[in-house]
Amino acid sequence: MPNAKISGTGFFVPPKVMTNHDLSQFMDTNDEWIQERTGIKERRYVENGASTSDLAIPAVEMAMERAGVTKEDIGLIIFATSTPDYYAPGSGCLLQEKMDFPTIGALDIRVQCSGFVYGLSVAQQYIENGIHKHILVIGAEVQSTAMDLSTRGRDTAVIFGDGAGVAVVSASHDDSGILSTHLHSEGKHCRELWVEAPSSGVTPRLNQEILDEGRHFLQMNGKEVFRHAVTRFPQVIMEGLDANGLTPEDIDLLVPHQANIRIAQMIQKRLKLRDDQVFSNIHKYGNTTAASIPIALCEAMDEGRVKKGDLVVFAAFGSGFTWASAIVKW
Ligand code: UT7
Repeated sequence: MPNAKISGTGFFVPPKVMTNHDLSQFMDTNDEWIQERTGIKERRYVENGASTSDLAIPAVEMAMERAGVTKEDIGLIIFATSTPDYYAPGSGCLLQEKMDFPTIGALDIRVQCSGFVYGLSVAQQYIENGIHKHILVIGAEVQSTAMDLSTRGRDTAVIFGDGAGVAVVSASHDDSGILSTHLHSEGKHCRELWVEAPSSGVTPRLNQEILDEGRHFLQMNGKEVFRHAVTRFPQVIMEGLDANGLTPEDIDLLVPHQANIRIAQMIQKRLKLRDDQVFSNIHKYGNTTAASIPIALCEAMDEGRVKKGDLVVFAAFGSGFTWASAIVKW
């Protein structure tokens, strides 16, 4: 039975930088508050109508080149996003068409911040069962157009940004690869972090009242999300480590979903990890939801932070609530 390993990574962020100071032109906020509460200095925003599948294209090209594979080698497109181009069809289908892939399967995953780890888990099953040799796992988001850039939306708007990250997951016959994935959800908290409209339960799906009340924007109960995140992250990391007979000391690099620097610091403290065991790039990109782990992974690799034989851990928590971890031997 082959292992499923990450054979190449890529990422892309749009060139337009939106600093904390820039945001303070639209809303009552300031650089000091945002940095102190979140660790974020700036994030990227799309321009000129670029959509989620557009952002994914350069990231896919980079990941495939680094993995040494062509479009014909890919067996399945897994596209994790909470901000798809359209309500239907999924962004995976759009990417297939835009990049002229063969008529392979294209599967969108809608579990928000946990999307990349869920995607890895699905890819792992297809690779280990011998069905596909190479699978694209994409995390891409255009969050900027879902933000209420007025003072009403400031607690949420300052956090999120746009970007795309990709991993090619390939069959391998050495001892490297994904050792385990653990996925969770708890839908009773769905309204703590959600985009209410458009909704299939409302006719018409969008109306002036919804727009006036801002119910089409991403809405978040930050305190409640924070409270659950600091419990679920360490829990699901320990679940993954325990399943493999490992401890936090064995981790060479934890690449957590980049939600808030204070959440990452609490995970680090809880698991007694050293600074060099935890990767962070939230200051540059904010929270890019499903894209944040693959962007961070790609940057960590480019900085030489991931070496052959290393134990790398991914963990995510977000809207749903959903949370997940993956334990990977490099
Ligand atoms: O992927 C998962 C996604 N989400 C998260 O991980 C988010 C988790 N939650 C958080 O990161 C934090 O809850 C926030 C950063 C969103 C907020 O931090 P907080 O420490 O929980 O602040 P708060 O909501 O309690 O607000 C404190 C104060 C309030 O003013 P008063 O009532 O004390 O006068 C807010 O109105 O800060 C005010 N405030 C702001 N001030 C300046 C809220 N947003 C802003 C802002 N700029 N952008």
